[in-house]
Amino acid sequence: MNIKDHIRGVPDFPKPGILFYDISTLLAHADAWQVAMGRLARDVRRYQPDVLAGIESRGFLVAAPLALKLGCGFVMLRKKGKLPGKTIRHDYDLEYGTDSIEIQQDAIAEGQRVVVLDDLLATGGTMTAGIELLRKIGAEVTGAASIIELGFLPGRQRLKELGVPFTSLASYD
Ligand code: PRP
Ligand code: MG
Repeated sequence: MNIKDHIRGVPDFPKPGILFYDISTLLAHADAWQVAMGRLARDVRRYQPDVLAGIESRGFLVAAPLALKLGCGFVMLRKKGKLPGKTIRHDYDLEYGTDSIEIQQDAIAEGQRVVVLDDLLATGGTMTAGIELLRKIGAEVTGAASIIELGFLPGRQRLKELGVPFTSLASYD
């Protein structure tokens, strides 16, 4: 089964000239989604995680079912102001402006092995921010993974520079 047969490319979204890779069609296809989760489970297991961290919002769709499959905990990395209680924030630069990502202070115990999940790796800005936030609270980030990777952008290289191994199911050039 080719995962790409179940990913839809939507031209000119969210802006003219951008081809948006949409996982809605993969999620909606029970057999294809099952296969995708099976493959990702096999790849992510190698990083021996205690916990999977999903990045809001589409990363949740990947990390939560995978955590169940691997018998791991699942934690949320959320956009700012969404999580109750004490949180730790990491601010990061965008092309224009800045953004923030947060985690609950007690979500991960010092030294726990964490793998970060998202649906897609593009520039790597989001994934890098997730890794830096997790490191801030003492997690050991042993890997990162996504369904889709855009090979013409520097995401994979940025993760390499952080020393975090990365895997994806489908790469687009
Ligand atoms: C998209 C995608 C990744 C991120 C990848 O999220 O789901 O999280 O962008 O881009 P990057 O590698 O250049 O950082 P988006 O911000 O569109 O939000 P969503 O997941 O809430 O839809
Ligand atoms: Mg996202």
